[in-house]
Amino acid sequence: MNQIVYKENLLNCEEIPLKELAEEYGTPLYVYSKNQIVDNYRSFCDLLSGTNHLVCYSLKANANHSILKILAEKGAGADVVSAGEIFLALKAGFTPAKIVFAGVGKREDEIEYALKENIFSFNVESTAELQAISRAALRLEKKARITLRINPDIDAQSHPYITTGLQSAKFGIEASKAFETFQYAASLPSLELAGIHTHIGSQITKAEPFTATAKYVAELVEKLRSAGINLTHIDFGGGYGVQYADAVYHEALPREEKTELPVPSPIDFFGEVLPVLKSTGCFILIEPGRSITANAGVLVTRVILVKENSAKKFIIVDAGMNDLLRPSLYQAYHQIVPVSIDTYEHEKVDIVGPVCESTDFFAKDRIISKTNAGDYLAVMTTGAYGFVLTSNYNARPRPAEILVNGDRVRIIRPRQTFEEL
Ligand code: LLP
Repeated sequence: MNQIVYKENLLNCEEIPLKELAEEYGTPLYVYSKNQIVDNYRSFCDLLSGTNHLVCYSLKANANHSILKILAEKGAGADVVSAGEIFLALKAGFTPAKIVFAGVGKREDEIEYALKENIFSFNVESTAELQAISRAALRLEKKARITLRINPDIDAQSHPYITTGLQSAKFGIEASKAFETFQYAASLPSLELAGIHTHIGSQITKAEPFTATAKYVAELVEKLRSAGINLTHIDFGGGYGVQYADAVYHEALPREEKTELPVPSPIDFFGEVLPVLKSTGCFILIEPGRSITANAGVLVTRVILVKENSAKKFIIVDAGMNDLLRPSLYQAYHQIVPVSIDTYEHEKVDIVGPVCESTDFFAKDRIISKTNAGDYLAVMTTGAYGFVLTSNYNARPRPAEILVNGDRVRIIRPRQTFEEL
């Protein structure tokens, strides 16, 4: 069930109209639904319930302390990519034994910190990193559990900036070197070689790349077993896409242009993947980020003014690319709707921010509900890779974040002040 929907003419987050929140807390404002986050997490747990598994939420999608706490309390693990994320995960209550650490450039101090905190495993991305972890573990007289991130050279068919599983990407160990790198890892002191890791990209909207990756992984596990290397873990990564178009429906809204296929649900993504992974008998980890938080969040922004020239009509809003970078960086599509439906009329506009950059836009030549200065708009599906990618560019304070649980509202990050700039 979607938690951010219209009730009559008002867009609500759970029981609360977004308009009320905008009026009370100001804009730009990130608003999240607690129950949507919990439902999304549970759908992955249910899916994997028949197998020995761990769902590690990928912190990079949204690392707000209160959101992390919700997931930690539900028993989630954490996928982290820096010492800072380890710190945030621990602070929010994630058990160290459920933290996996990825990243192509782990510094030695980060490796040592992770070892001292006894995290579950390092997802290792190169031979040089294997050596660095082995050295650090020897120094600290510890054993480091590791998996090797293998780059299977499978096209995730996503945006090139978030495709990671091709040979041209910096991520992982190339497939042709996988076997020998596993042998090398098995020979190094102070390492416990536990498994294999893959993560082929993000916002993947087709099941096939995952199915192909699962087959590749299962074959490699078998091949390694025949050679006496017995892997016990498969970390299958994240990347499960979400639906950005048609995020919310009201009969007054224009029909959304379809920018993507209907995106498979987690069940559909794993339909063919799960039996293949299960056949290995391995412990299965996954690292969803976007699919846990994206549709649980919206960015509410106020129309400052409407400006027209002979070519275009611009809706100038008070959120900018510093508050939501995805449209500028990936030409990402987010549905944009009024928080209060006051008209059935539509118009074609550019929706842009106040930042001094031509790339400061949320939508171009988009048909939306007719909008006036002072109206509030909701940029949908911004709970993942929204706030985490904010900046203070143009000396703009970062927006506030609000968590809604039923009819309860909590500020989970106050708006930044000028003094904090
Ligand atoms: N595991 C690893 C190793 C990753 O690198 C990532 C994301 C994830 C898991 C989680 O992927 P997800 O389930 O969220 O797709 N800023 C971009 C997305 C970058 C993703 C980076 N890695 C965006 O806004 O689309």
